[in-house]
Amino acid sequence: MEPIPFTRVEITAEARAACDRVLASGWITTGRETLAFQREWADHVGADHCVMVSSCTAAIELCLRALELPPGSKVLTTTTTFCGVVNAILAAGHRPVFADLAHPGDSANVADTYMVSERTVREAADRAGGVDAMVVLHFAGHPADVEALARAARLPLSRVLEDAAHGIGTSVGDRMVGGISQATCFSFYPTKNLPMPEGGAVTTGDAAFAAKLTALRLHGMSADAWNRYLPGGSWRYTVAAPGMKANMTDVQAAIGREQMKHLPRWQARRDELRDRYDKRLAGLGGLGLPQPSERGRTAWHLYVVRVKPEFGMARDDLIAFLNERGVATSVHFIPSHTMPAYAGFAPPGGLPNAEAVFEQVVSLPLYPLLTDTQVDRVCAVVGEARAAGGAA
Ligand SMILES: Cc1ncc(COP(=O)(O)O)c(C=O)c1O
Repeated sequence: MEPIPFTRVEITAEARAACDRVLASGWITTGRETLAFQREWADHVGADHCVMVSSCTAAIELCLRALELPPGSKVLTTTTTFCGVVNAILAAGHRPVFADLAHPGDSANVADTYMVSERTVREAADRAGGVDAMVVLHFAGHPADVEALARAARLPLSRVLEDAAHGIGTSVGDRMVGGISQATCFSFYPTKNLPMPEGGAVTTGDAAFAAKLTALRLHGMSADAWNRYLPGGSWRYTVAAPGMKANMTDVQAAIGREQMKHLPRWQARRDELRDRYDKRLAGLGGLGLPQPSERGRTAWHLYVVRVKPEFGMARDDLIAFLNERGVATSVHFIPSHTMPAYAGFAPPGGLPNAEAVFEQVVSLPLYPLLTDTQVDRVCAVVGEARAAGGAA
Protein backbone atom coordinates (compact mmCIF):
# COMPACT_ATOMS: atom_id res chain seq x y z
CA MET A 1 0.00 0.00 0.00
CA GLU A 2 1.10 3.57 -0.72
CA PRO A 3 2.61 5.23 2.36
CA ILE A 4 0.65 8.15 3.79
CA PRO A 5 2.97 11.16 4.20
CA PHE A 6 2.50 13.61 7.06
CA THR A 7 1.94 16.36 4.52
CA ARG A 8 1.44 16.75 0.80
CA VAL A 9 1.11 20.15 -0.82
CA GLU A 10 -1.39 21.17 -3.47
CA ILE A 11 -0.17 23.88 -5.84
CA THR A 12 -3.13 24.67 -8.07
CA ALA A 13 -2.97 24.89 -11.86
CA GLU A 14 -3.76 28.62 -11.66
CA ALA A 15 -0.86 29.15 -9.26
CA ARG A 16 1.52 27.35 -11.61
CA ALA A 17 0.30 29.49 -14.53
CA ALA A 18 0.74 32.68 -12.47
CA CYS A 19 4.27 31.58 -11.59
CA ASP A 20 5.09 31.08 -15.28
CA ARG A 21 3.62 34.46 -16.11
CA VAL A 22 5.87 36.23 -13.58
CA LEU A 23 8.94 34.25 -14.62
CA ALA A 24 8.38 35.40 -18.20
CA SER A 25 7.64 39.03 -17.25
CA GLY A 26 11.19 40.32 -16.79
CA TRP A 27 10.59 41.23 -13.11
CA ILE A 28 10.73 38.39 -10.58
CA THR A 29 11.60 39.87 -7.19
CA THR A 30 9.48 42.12 -4.93
CA GLY A 31 7.20 44.22 -7.10
CA ARG A 32 3.62 44.65 -8.22
CA GLU A 33 2.53 41.09 -7.42
CA THR A 34 3.83 41.45 -3.88
CA LEU A 35 2.04 44.80 -3.46
CA ALA A 36 -1.21 43.26 -4.74
CA PHE A 37 -0.85 40.23 -2.45
CA GLN A 38 -0.28 42.57 0.51
CA ARG A 39 -3.53 44.44 -0.21
CA GLU A 40 -5.49 41.22 -0.74
CA TRP A 41 -4.15 39.55 2.42
CA ALA A 42 -4.83 42.66 4.55
CA ASP A 43 -8.43 42.71 3.25
CA HIS A 44 -8.79 38.97 3.80
CA VAL A 45 -7.90 39.14 7.50
CA GLY A 46 -9.48 42.55 8.13
CA ALA A 47 -6.26 44.48 8.80
CA ASP A 48 -5.28 47.91 7.53
CA HIS A 49 -1.76 46.99 6.40
CA CYS A 50 0.21 43.95 5.34
CA VAL A 51 3.91 43.50 4.65
CA MET A 52 4.93 40.35 2.81
CA VAL A 53 8.20 38.75 3.90
CA SER A 54 10.23 35.59 3.36
CA SER A 55 8.94 33.54 6.33
CA CYS A 56 7.05 33.73 9.61
CA THR A 57 10.35 33.42 11.46
CA ALA A 58 11.62 36.53 9.67
CA ALA A 59 8.25 38.23 10.32
CA ILE A 60 8.60 37.72 14.08
CA GLU A 61 12.20 38.97 14.13
CA LEU A 62 11.28 42.00 12.00
CA CYS A 63 8.37 42.87 14.29
CA LEU A 64 10.54 42.56 17.39
CA ARG A 65 13.13 44.84 15.79
CA ALA A 66 10.42 47.31 14.75
CA LEU A 67 9.19 47.49 18.36
CA GLU A 68 12.59 49.07 19.16
CA LEU A 69 12.84 47.56 22.63
CA PRO A 70 16.13 47.98 24.51
CA PRO A 71 18.59 45.11 23.85
CA GLY A 72 18.11 42.20 26.25
CA SER A 73 14.37 42.82 26.69
CA LYS A 74 12.28 39.95 28.03
CA VAL A 75 9.90 38.42 25.48
CA LEU A 76 7.35 35.91 26.74
CA THR A 77 6.45 32.92 24.58
CA THR A 78 4.89 29.53 25.13
CA THR A 79 7.56 26.87 25.50
CA THR A 80 5.45 24.62 23.23
CA THR A 81 6.34 26.37 20.02
CA PHE A 82 8.59 26.08 17.00
CA CYS A 83 12.30 26.78 17.51
CA GLY A 84 12.18 29.50 14.82
CA VAL A 85 10.19 31.70 17.22
CA VAL A 86 12.81 31.42 19.96
CA ASN A 87 15.58 31.99 17.43
CA ALA A 88 13.79 35.14 16.24
CA ILE A 89 13.64 36.48 19.81
CA LEU A 90 17.37 35.81 20.28
CA ALA A 91 18.31 37.17 16.85
CA ALA A 92 16.48 40.40 17.67
CA GLY A 93 18.78 40.71 20.69
CA HIS A 94 16.26 39.75 23.37
CA ARG A 95 15.71 37.05 26.00
CA PRO A 96 12.94 34.45 25.80
CA VAL A 97 10.76 33.94 28.88
CA PHE A 98 9.05 30.57 28.58
CA ALA A 99 5.48 30.10 29.79
CA ASP A 100 4.08 26.67 30.61
CA LEU A 101 0.98 25.21 28.99
CA ALA A 102 -2.27 25.72 30.89
CA HIS A 103 -2.89 23.83 34.10
CA PRO A 104 -5.69 21.28 33.78
CA GLY A 105 -8.86 23.09 34.81
CA ASP A 106 -7.68 26.57 33.77
CA SER A 107 -10.28 28.76 32.06
CA ALA A 108 -12.56 27.42 29.28
CA ASN A 109 -10.98 24.52 27.42
CA VAL A 110 -7.57 26.12 27.10
CA ALA A 111 -5.70 23.07 28.47
CA ASP A 112 -7.35 20.83 25.85
CA THR A 113 -5.96 23.06 23.09
CA TYR A 114 -2.35 22.94 24.32
CA MET A 115 -1.90 26.63 24.85
CA VAL A 116 -0.84 28.90 27.66
CA SER A 117 -3.50 30.23 30.02
CA GLU A 118 -3.81 33.59 31.73
CA ARG A 119 -2.52 31.87 34.88
CA THR A 120 0.62 30.38 33.28
CA VAL A 121 1.37 33.66 31.51
CA ARG A 122 1.10 35.52 34.82
CA GLU A 123 3.32 32.92 36.48
CA ALA A 124 5.99 33.31 33.77
CA ALA A 125 5.83 37.11 33.85
CA ASP A 126 6.12 37.13 37.65
CA ARG A 127 9.01 34.68 37.57
CA ALA A 128 10.86 37.05 35.19
CA GLY A 129 10.05 40.13 37.26
CA GLY A 130 7.82 41.41 34.42
CA VAL A 131 8.17 41.11 30.65
CA ASP A 132 8.57 43.69 27.88
CA ALA A 133 6.74 41.96 25.02
CA MET A 134 4.98 38.72 24.21
CA VAL A 135 4.45 36.44 21.22
CA VAL A 136 1.03 34.74 21.46
CA LEU A 137 0.64 31.47 19.54
CA HIS A 138 -2.63 30.25 18.01
CA PHE A 139 -1.58 26.61 18.38
CA ALA A 140 -2.77 24.10 15.77
CA GLY A 141 -5.31 26.63 14.49
CA HIS A 142 -7.00 27.18 17.91
CA PRO A 143 -7.69 30.81 18.81
CA ALA A 144 -5.78 32.22 21.76
CA ASP A 145 -7.54 34.92 23.76
CA VAL A 146 -5.01 37.60 22.83
CA GLU A 147 -6.52 40.41 24.90
CA ALA A 148 -6.87 38.32 28.07
CA LEU A 149 -3.30 37.04 27.72
CA ALA A 150 -2.01 40.60 27.24
CA ARG A 151 -3.71 41.63 30.49
CA ALA A 152 -2.25 38.58 32.24
CA ALA A 153 1.25 39.59 31.06
CA ARG A 154 0.52 43.21 32.11
CA LEU A 155 1.31 44.37 28.58
CA PRO A 156 -0.52 46.79 26.30
CA LEU A 157 -1.60 45.25 22.96
CA SER A 158 1.07 47.45 21.34
CA ARG A 159 3.70 45.10 22.87
CA VAL A 160 1.94 41.91 21.79
CA LEU A 161 2.68 40.02 18.59
CA GLU A 162 0.68 37.06 17.37
CA ASP A 163 2.24 33.98 15.84
CA ALA A 164 -0.44 32.90 13.38
CA ALA A 165 1.73 30.34 11.57
CA HIS A 166 -1.07 27.89 12.46
CA GLY A 167 -3.77 30.58 12.53
CA ILE A 168 -4.78 31.04 8.89
CA GLY A 169 -8.58 30.76 9.08
CA THR A 170 -8.72 31.09 12.90
CA SER A 171 -11.06 33.59 14.61
CA VAL A 172 -10.92 34.88 18.16
CA GLY A 173 -14.60 35.37 19.00
CA ASP A 174 -15.88 36.69 15.68
CA ARG A 175 -12.63 38.52 14.78
CA MET A 176 -10.42 36.88 12.26
CA VAL A 177 -6.83 36.51 13.41
CA GLY A 178 -4.76 39.27 11.82
CA GLY A 179 -6.22 42.50 13.17
CA ILE A 180 -6.15 42.19 16.97
CA SER A 181 -2.69 42.92 18.41
CA GLN A 182 0.13 45.23 17.30
CA ALA A 183 1.11 42.80 14.56
CA THR A 184 0.25 39.28 13.43
CA CYS A 185 2.79 37.03 11.74
CA PHE A 186 1.67 34.38 9.23
CA SER A 187 3.55 31.50 7.63
CA PHE A 188 3.05 30.26 4.07
CA TYR A 189 5.41 27.32 4.63
CA PRO A 190 4.30 24.36 2.49
CA THR A 191 2.64 22.50 5.39
CA LYS A 192 0.52 25.50 6.39
CA ASN A 193 -3.15 26.21 5.60
CA LEU A 194 -2.08 28.52 2.75
CA PRO A 195 0.82 26.59 1.25
CA MET A 196 3.43 28.28 -0.93
CA PRO A 197 7.09 27.73 -1.76
CA GLU A 198 7.86 29.52 1.56
CA GLY A 199 6.76 32.98 2.57
CA GLY A 200 5.38 34.99 5.45
CA ALA A 201 3.28 38.07 6.18
CA VAL A 202 2.78 40.66 8.89
CA THR A 203 -0.54 42.40 9.29
CA THR A 204 -0.95 45.47 11.46
CA GLY A 205 -3.24 48.43 12.03
CA ASP A 206 -0.28 50.76 12.52
CA ALA A 207 0.82 52.53 9.32
CA ALA A 208 4.15 53.69 10.77
CA PHE A 209 4.93 50.16 11.96
CA ALA A 210 4.15 48.76 8.49
CA ALA A 211 6.44 51.37 6.91
CA LYS A 212 9.23 50.41 9.32
CA LEU A 213 8.77 46.71 8.45
CA THR A 214 8.79 47.52 4.73
CA ALA A 215 12.24 49.07 5.10
CA LEU A 216 13.58 46.49 7.56
CA ARG A 217 12.66 43.52 5.33
CA LEU A 218 14.96 44.92 2.58
CA HIS A 219 18.21 45.81 4.35
CA GLY A 220 16.63 48.87 5.98
CA MET A 221 16.55 50.68 2.63
CA SER A 222 13.89 53.39 2.33
CA ALA A 223 10.45 52.01 1.63
CA ASP A 224 10.23 52.40 -2.15
CA ALA A 225 13.68 50.93 -2.86
CA TRP A 226 12.13 47.85 -4.48
CA ASN A 227 11.48 49.77 -7.71
CA ARG A 228 14.84 51.56 -8.01
CA TYR A 229 15.66 49.75 -11.29
CA LEU A 230 12.33 50.55 -12.96
CA PRO A 231 11.64 53.61 -15.14
CA GLY A 232 10.20 56.19 -12.79
CA GLY A 233 11.85 54.60 -9.76
CA SER A 234 14.63 56.40 -7.95
CA TRP A 235 18.19 55.08 -7.61
CA ARG A 236 18.58 57.15 -4.46
CA TYR A 237 17.79 55.50 -1.13
CA THR A 238 18.68 55.87 2.48
CA VAL A 239 19.13 53.42 5.38
CA ALA A 240 17.68 54.69 8.63
CA ALA A 241 18.26 51.45 10.57
CA PRO A 242 20.05 48.23 9.57
CA GLY A 243 17.57 45.67 8.28
CA MET A 244 17.36 42.08 7.11
CA LYS A 245 17.16 40.45 3.67
CA ALA A 246 13.68 39.04 4.12
CA ASN A 247 11.57 40.29 1.22
CA MET A 248 9.02 38.19 -0.66
CA THR A 249 9.53 37.69 -4.41
CA ASP A 250 6.86 38.33 -7.03
CA VAL A 251 7.11 34.65 -8.02
CA GLN A 252 6.01 33.67 -4.50
CA ALA A 253 3.36 36.40 -4.36
CA ALA A 254 1.80 35.38 -7.69
CA ILE A 255 1.51 31.81 -6.41
CA GLY A 256 0.09 32.99 -3.09
CA ARG A 257 -2.55 35.20 -4.72
CA GLU A 258 -3.89 32.23 -6.65
CA GLN A 259 -3.58 29.77 -3.77
CA MET A 260 -5.58 32.18 -1.57
CA LYS A 261 -8.66 31.71 -3.74
CA HIS A 262 -8.79 28.06 -2.62
CA LEU A 263 -8.83 28.80 1.12
CA PRO A 264 -12.59 28.25 1.58
CA ARG A 265 -12.44 24.85 -0.16
CA TRP A 266 -9.33 23.80 1.76
CA GLN A 267 -10.82 24.92 5.09
CA ALA A 268 -14.01 22.97 4.39
CA ARG A 269 -11.93 19.87 3.63
CA ARG A 270 -9.92 20.28 6.84
CA ASP A 271 -13.20 20.49 8.79
CA GLU A 272 -14.48 17.30 7.11
CA LEU A 273 -11.26 15.40 7.78
CA ARG A 274 -11.26 16.40 11.41
CA ASP A 275 -14.88 15.22 11.70
CA ARG A 276 -14.01 11.89 10.09
CA TYR A 277 -11.05 11.34 12.43
CA ASP A 278 -13.23 12.20 15.46
CA LYS A 279 -15.94 9.73 14.46
CA ARG A 280 -13.52 6.87 13.80
CA LEU A 281 -11.23 7.40 16.79
CA ALA A 282 -13.84 8.26 19.44
CA GLY A 283 -14.79 4.65 20.12
CA LEU A 284 -11.24 3.36 20.58
CA GLY A 285 -10.73 4.75 24.06
CA GLY A 286 -7.48 5.87 25.61
CA LEU A 287 -7.07 8.84 23.24
CA GLY A 288 -7.64 12.52 23.97
CA LEU A 289 -9.09 13.87 20.72
CA PRO A 290 -8.59 17.54 19.82
CA GLN A 291 -11.41 19.72 21.10
CA PRO A 292 -12.75 22.68 19.13
CA SER A 293 -12.00 25.91 20.92
CA GLU A 294 -14.67 27.69 22.96
CA ARG A 295 -12.98 31.01 22.16
CA GLY A 296 -13.72 31.23 18.44
CA ARG A 297 -13.13 29.25 15.28
CA THR A 298 -10.48 26.54 15.09
CA ALA A 299 -8.86 26.34 11.64
CA TRP A 300 -7.65 22.73 12.13
CA HIS A 301 -4.10 23.26 11.01
CA LEU A 302 -3.12 20.13 12.98
CA TYR A 303 -4.96 17.12 14.36
CA VAL A 304 -3.18 16.56 17.68
CA VAL A 305 -4.12 13.40 19.57
CA ARG A 306 -3.16 12.71 23.19
CA VAL A 307 -2.13 9.11 23.86
CA LYS A 308 -3.21 8.48 27.45
CA PRO A 309 -1.82 5.68 29.64
CA GLU A 310 -5.15 3.80 29.17
CA PHE A 311 -4.33 3.44 25.47
CA GLY A 312 -1.91 0.69 26.45
CA MET A 313 0.88 1.81 24.12
CA ALA A 314 3.19 4.75 24.74
CA ARG A 315 3.25 7.65 22.27
CA ASP A 316 6.69 6.80 20.88
CA ASP A 317 5.65 3.16 20.34
CA LEU A 318 2.48 4.28 18.57
CA ILE A 319 4.54 6.53 16.28
CA ALA A 320 6.84 3.60 15.45
CA PHE A 321 3.82 1.28 14.94
CA LEU A 322 2.24 3.75 12.50
CA ASN A 323 5.53 4.35 10.74
CA GLU A 324 6.13 0.61 10.19
CA ARG A 325 2.69 0.46 8.56
CA GLY A 326 3.32 3.40 6.23
CA VAL A 327 1.74 6.26 8.20
CA ALA A 328 3.94 9.30 8.88
CA THR A 329 3.22 11.50 11.89
CA SER A 330 4.81 14.44 13.69
CA VAL A 331 4.99 15.92 17.20
CA HIS A 332 4.15 19.54 18.00
CA PHE A 333 6.29 20.59 19.82
CA ILE A 334 9.35 19.57 21.82
CA PRO A 335 9.25 22.09 24.72
CA SER A 336 11.74 24.82 23.84
CA HIS A 337 13.16 25.10 27.35
CA THR A 338 14.46 21.51 27.04
CA MET A 339 16.56 22.34 23.95
CA PRO A 340 20.31 22.66 24.62
CA ALA A 341 20.43 25.98 22.74
CA TYR A 342 17.92 27.61 25.11
CA ALA A 343 18.88 25.84 28.36
CA GLY A 344 20.04 29.13 29.87
CA PHE A 345 16.44 30.37 29.74
CA ALA A 346 14.82 27.27 31.30
CA PRO A 347 13.10 27.82 34.64
CA PRO A 348 14.84 25.85 37.43
CA GLY A 349 11.89 23.49 38.02
CA GLY A 350 11.17 23.01 34.30
CA LEU A 351 7.66 23.53 32.94
CA PRO A 352 5.76 20.42 34.03
CA ASN A 353 2.52 20.82 32.05
CA ALA A 354 4.34 21.23 28.73
CA GLU A 355 6.70 18.36 29.54
CA ALA A 356 3.79 16.03 30.42
CA VAL A 357 1.82 16.98 27.29
CA PHE A 358 4.90 16.53 25.10
CA GLU A 359 5.33 12.91 26.20
CA GLN A 360 1.80 12.06 25.05
CA VAL A 361 0.92 14.02 21.90
CA VAL A 362 1.14 12.98 18.28
CA SER A 363 -0.07 14.87 15.20
CA LEU A 364 -1.81 12.72 12.57
CA PRO A 365 -1.80 13.63 8.85
CA LEU A 366 -4.31 16.42 8.06
CA TYR A 367 -4.26 18.24 4.71
CA PRO A 368 -6.75 18.85 1.92
CA LEU A 369 -5.23 16.24 -0.41
CA LEU A 370 -5.70 13.51 2.22
CA THR A 371 -8.49 11.19 1.09
CA ASP A 372 -11.28 9.64 3.17
CA THR A 373 -9.76 6.22 2.50
CA GLN A 374 -6.42 7.40 3.86
CA VAL A 375 -8.04 8.75 7.03
CA ASP A 376 -9.81 5.41 7.45
CA ARG A 377 -6.50 3.61 7.06
CA VAL A 378 -4.75 5.82 9.62
CA CYS A 379 -7.61 5.17 12.05
CA ALA A 380 -7.54 1.42 11.36
CA VAL A 381 -3.81 1.30 12.17
CA VAL A 382 -4.39 3.30 15.36
CA GLY A 383 -7.11 0.74 16.18
CA GLU A 384 -4.66 -2.12 15.62
CA ALA A 385 -2.20 -0.39 17.94
CA ARG A 386 -4.90 -0.09 20.57
CA ALA A 387 -5.68 -3.81 20.23
CA ALA A 388 -1.96 -4.69 20.35
CA GLY A 389 -1.55 -2.47 23.41
CA GLY A 390 -4.16 -4.52 25.29
CA ALA A 391 -7.50 -2.76 24.88
CA ALA A 392 -9.75 -4.12 27.58
C1 LIG B 1 4.22 27.83 15.49
C2 LIG B 1 5.16 28.22 14.40
N1 LIG B 1 5.66 29.46 14.40
C3 LIG B 1 6.51 29.87 13.44
C4 LIG B 1 6.90 29.02 12.44
C5 LIG B 1 7.89 29.50 11.42
O1 LIG B 1 7.32 29.60 10.16
P1 LIG B 1 8.27 29.78 8.88
O2 LIG B 1 8.70 28.40 8.47
O3 LIG B 1 7.39 30.44 7.86
O4 LIG B 1 9.41 30.63 9.27
C6 LIG B 1 6.39 27.73 12.38
C7 LIG B 1 6.81 26.83 11.30
O5 LIG B 1 6.59 25.66 11.27
C8 LIG B 1 5.49 27.31 13.39
O6 LIG B 1 4.98 26.08 13.40
